[in-house]
Amino acid sequence: MSNVKIPYLDLKAQYRSIKPEIDAALERVLDSCQFVLGPEVAAFEQDFAKYCGTSECIALNSGTSALHLALLAAGVGRGDEVVTVPFTFVASVAAVEYAGAKPVLVDIDPRSFTMDPAAIEGAITSRTKAILPVHLYGQPVDMDPIMEIARRHGLVVIEDAAQAHGAKYKGKPVGSIGDLACFSFYPGKNLGAYGEGGAVTTNNLELARIVRMLRDWGQDRKYHHLLRGFNYRMEGFQGSVLGVKLRHLEQWTEARRRIAEQYNQLLANCDVQTPEQMPWAHHVYHVYTLRIEDRDGMQSALAEQGVQTGIHYPIPVHLQPAYADLSYRTGSFPRAEAAAKQVLSLPLYPELSDEAVTEVAAAVLRAVANRAQPVISR
Ligand SMILES: Cc1ncc(COP(=O)(O)O)c(C=O)c1O
Repeated sequence: MSNVKIPYLDLKAQYRSIKPEIDAALERVLDSCQFVLGPEVAAFEQDFAKYCGTSECIALNSGTSALHLALLAAGVGRGDEVVTVPFTFVASVAAVEYAGAKPVLVDIDPRSFTMDPAAIEGAITSRTKAILPVHLYGQPVDMDPIMEIARRHGLVVIEDAAQAHGAKYKGKPVGSIGDLACFSFYPGKNLGAYGEGGAVTTNNLELARIVRMLRDWGQDRKYHHLLRGFNYRMEGFQGSVLGVKLRHLEQWTEARRRIAEQYNQLLANCDVQTPEQMPWAHHVYHVYTLRIEDRDGMQSALAEQGVQTGIHYPIPVHLQPAYADLSYRTGSFPRAEAAAKQVLSLPLYPELSDEAVTEVAAAVLRAVANRAQPVISR
């Protein structure tokens, strides 16, 4: 394989663009020695809650911890079932099992790659406690029908917004639609820490109180353990970095949306399927995904031209060896399985130059011309 000319992601470019602010923020933490929670984390919680349109934000040590605690706070436990999707990062499903419950999967809508609301009711049983839709790639799930089904069946809705900071559903920020929502601040995310990080957002004060206790050993005050909790606290360094980066997020999101639009235009008349922004969505393009019949051939052709790509995700969770005992098999979720074979993510980050975008698109066009990749029929 030839050398990478255009990487899939370039975290160094972003750090260089905000270095003085980041360095000053890290120094504040060093000076204060408030390494766990502390004022920088508290300030970020306030700012991020405001950004999401919620009254509460609880900062944690990962998005996985956010899912785990949101499920526990919602009362999900042994014997319960939670409806989610197989076409997601494994954490969405794993966290359901962390809480002791059983993941029940439903297929995706092939246009949005997200939970198909029409599939949910067939999966609901007397044991169903919650629905966990995933705003995959930065595109909000069609939430209205999901909220309506949840209300009718008395279920909790937990948004997995790990990839969707700043995305909006019919003008409403994700994170403020379900009963609880979970974010990841893993470094490559649209809002990324300089290490692990996550958060739960909610407008429900009681649920927030429980998540806050659970992240800190179930304490309501020092050494008074009301609940059996965890050490899921956010570090001071991460809170300080996130506080700085949140101030730039809207501008970065606009850059992502502009690049996605450039790709859409440059690839409009070519025989690959570009991503579709659904009518309800303000998409934040955490991932820009093409659908191509010969995905692996396209990935190799791009690699040969120095363009690094990603696959999100090559194997749906129900076909992962670790989840064989969920008793699904090949054919259980045909749309998720087809997507896993055909998706290819192009480089997209706010600092990607116009020239690089043009070069990536040209590389795709050349690969199509050389290999005659057929378009996907849905
Ligand atoms: C959809 C989704 N859910 C959950 C997670 C878990 O987040 P984290 O890696 O911060 O634990 C991720 C991130 O990797 C994700 O993409």
